[in-house]
Amino acid sequence: MASCAPPPTARAPVSENARLLKLKEMFIAKYGSAPTFYARAPGRVNLIGEHIDYCGYAVLPMAIEQDILAAVQTVNTQVVQLSNTNPSYLDFSVNVKNIQIDKTKPLWHNYFLCGLKGIQDHFNLSSPTGMNCLLDGTIPASSGLSSSSALVCCAGLVTLTANGVTLSKVELAETCARCEHYIGTEGGGMDQSISFLAEEGTAKLIEFSPLRATDVKLPTGAVFVIANSCVEMNKAATSHFNIRVMECRLATKVIAKSRGMDWKNLLKLGDLQAKLGVNLKEMLAVVEEVLHPEPYTREEICECLGINLEELRATILSQNTQDVATFKLYQRAQHVYGEAARVLAFKKVCDEAPANAIQLLGDLMNQSHVSCRDLYECSCPELDQLVDICLQSGAIGSRLTGAGWGGCTVSMVPISKLSEFLLSVQDSYYKTNDQRLALQQRSLFATKPGSGAMVLLEAEKK
Ligand code: GLA
Repeated sequence: MASCAPPPTARAPVSENARLLKLKEMFIAKYGSAPTFYARAPGRVNLIGEHIDYCGYAVLPMAIEQDILAAVQTVNTQVVQLSNTNPSYLDFSVNVKNIQIDKTKPLWHNYFLCGLKGIQDHFNLSSPTGMNCLLDGTIPASSGLSSSSALVCCAGLVTLTANGVTLSKVELAETCARCEHYIGTEGGGMDQSISFLAEEGTAKLIEFSPLRATDVKLPTGAVFVIANSCVEMNKAATSHFNIRVMECRLATKVIAKSRGMDWKNLLKLGDLQAKLGVNLKEMLAVVEEVLHPEPYTREEICECLGINLEELRATILSQNTQDVATFKLYQRAQHVYGEAARVLAFKKVCDEAPANAIQLLGDLMNQSHVSCRDLYECSCPELDQLVDICLQSGAIGSRLTGAGWGGCTVSMVPISKLSEFLLSVQDSYYKTNDQRLALQQRSLFATKPGSGAMVLLEAEKK
């Protein structure tokens, strides 16, 4: 099975690949000799299934062509030196025996350190190797296309390769999903899973516990177009993301307690459903019955669970949600169970490919956006405006993708309407604002399912 295999190693004719060649030259200029290997990890676009991976539910992303690429050389010291082709990302060096990850400042190198430390911890490496690394990224940062997880995955793959140890793609994805938590965000495993398990030409249904990826054949008559709202959102720099994770966790516990279950050991809405043994529609009815739409104060939650505030803080809430005063449990749980059902419906339409497949998939994407906007409240006015413009410009479905609160939309556009669509979105969203216009070239593009992470070695010269 492909997922039991390690990430592939390919031979690349570096001298014929402009990006690799440039990276190699910059590496030599920086470190004085040539890299011994390269590694790449792609970003992703999530087609449907937002904010449900950390609740245990399946999601449906595909890898994009944009990636993080590293050129690497192992050295005989215990120092890892990091530099970036983008001069705004400053050089950094660290002793492999003393890795500290600053949760208060999500600087670029901290994501690399997550992957580095994740692999070291996984193997309990007693004397990890030092290395010189030069990184180059083409995924727009803070745009919901998973640039940060791609960096964590690339660092994990680099560390694995440099230390001569192996893991399967699935183990690597799980390790990288866990170690991204070192930066303080409580993400699920979608981004790391698709970065390792992606295959060119196919989107994937990613399921968890156990992690597995199944091909999803997208309809041939449409393309997926990514459009950046140009509102940056870094999920480690704010508490929005973790508040949602906590709200889902609290909803799980409050419902479980109301049903006389062992609520202390339940963290995910998906595990709650499995324990109750009911379907997603029935879960929506349970939410309706048990939870109320008014926000819950911390005091009310403590009362429901029979605990005090100290216990709530110490045993349930993350570091950056300790002082949140109210939590919306009903709306978040409604979104999660509804969205989980939409993912399965989307996969079914792709499998069965009925004549109106594009319309059905578009409807599901639109419902997903409305749910993200109204129930999960992870959109923003610019994303909502961009979704509206995309729909008016000919998309059959359009929604925010990734964590939200900024970043990108993904739209499904009939192939026959693609050129008109691009022109119309340019006119209505990008040309109306100078800052957006400046970013336009890298902000609006059609994409197709790309390949997963891999190690590249320089091909021998003939
Ligand atoms: C981020 C997280 C993912 C997922 C999405 C929202 O990208 O890293 O695990 O939760 O947000 O769907």
